[in-house]
Amino acid sequence: MKKQIFIFDTTLRDGEQVPGCQLNTVEKIEVAQALEELGVDIIEAGFPISSPGDLQSVQEISKVVKQPVITALARAVKKDIDAAHESLMFAKRKRIHTFISSSDIHIIHQFKSTREKILEQGVESVKYAKKFAQDVEFSAMDAGRTENEFLAKFIEATIKAGATTVNIPDTTGYCLPDEFGEKIKYLFDHVKGIENVIVSAHCHNDLGMATANTISAVQNGARQIEVTINGVGERAGNTSLEEAVMILKTRKDLHSQTTINTRKIYPTSRLISRLMRMPVAANKAIVGRNAFAHSSGIHQNGVLKERFTYEIINPSEVGAPQSSFRLTARSGRSGLQHHLQKLGYNFSQETLQKIYDKFLALADNKKRITKNDLHKLISSI
Ligand code: KIV
Ligand code: ZN
Repeated sequence: MKKQIFIFDTTLRDGEQVPGCQLNTVEKIEVAQALEELGVDIIEAGFPISSPGDLQSVQEISKVVKQPVITALARAVKKDIDAAHESLMFAKRKRIHTFISSSDIHIIHQFKSTREKILEQGVESVKYAKKFAQDVEFSAMDAGRTENEFLAKFIEATIKAGATTVNIPDTTGYCLPDEFGEKIKYLFDHVKGIENVIVSAHCHNDLGMATANTISAVQNGARQIEVTINGVGERAGNTSLEEAVMILKTRKDLHSQTTINTRKIYPTSRLISRLMRMPVAANKAIVGRNAFAHSSGIHQNGVLKERFTYEIINPSEVGAPQSSFRLTARSGRSGLQHHLQKLGYNFSQETLQKIYDKFLALADNKKRITKNDLHKLISSI
């Protein structure tokens, strides 16, 4: 039986924290509706205490989005939890998400406090949130750098206080995949009551390991993953939804599934890129312009014979345009022939070779060969 992995999308909260990427309420509603169509399970719609506008956006989203659970973030303090509660008053299905740091680095340097006091504050915040919502998520910020024994004690206490989801963030993107997976396993082995709650992973990409760490968490029992579209988020970003979801779909040996309609991935990625004015890198996995573009002769030849030789995902599976064969100085004869056939030409092997020689001479000096260039080449022989 496949394990259901819940998709918690935080594009509108962690993603929207990116400088210059702020969205207004109308744009946030458009994003939330796109996320609902995409099939995410939980939408983190904002951090209501941060501004009246953010609180209002969570309320407006809650009015129109009905299927996913809507959650709002709150520090482990009453006024934040009150604001989260107020923002969720129209939500059909709501969750309050409260957090406090658990690492000594944060406790000593940022909070100037002690483990005992911080644990107590975390527990009290969960109890307080429970007055307003059955569904309460607790996050131990910087869990990635928290000593496992203390983390287990902290998580156990918040479960006892009523948390229904416990989130383990690698806030600074510091962990190695094995290490993060072992942390999740440690919690399953040492926390009483953990089998009754959902364990979640929330990873950042500072060292480029967010997706790997998230998958490692799933392999060790996490049932919820916190992600953003295009991996947008603080600093180097969060785990990208499209990468994590397509790994779970492509690697059948992970025996996992999600509710994501993967054909909506590409259009949703374009929407976020446009609204946040944040271009997607050409080589970004799954949604980048080159994710399904083949340029070397060997690869083009392989894909033309059998797609699976160099393409592990069919672009239509993620709603992306069909694979393309870029003509560059690294392209081979079969790639060129493919382009010529698309233009309606069918040449003998001998003529094709002549065109190919001229094509190579041109391509050595020009980055991109266009249809016009091909027409000119043909008329020159
Ligand atoms: O990265 C982090 O620790 C967070 C928490 C607020 C969940 O975003
Ligand atoms: Zn985060």
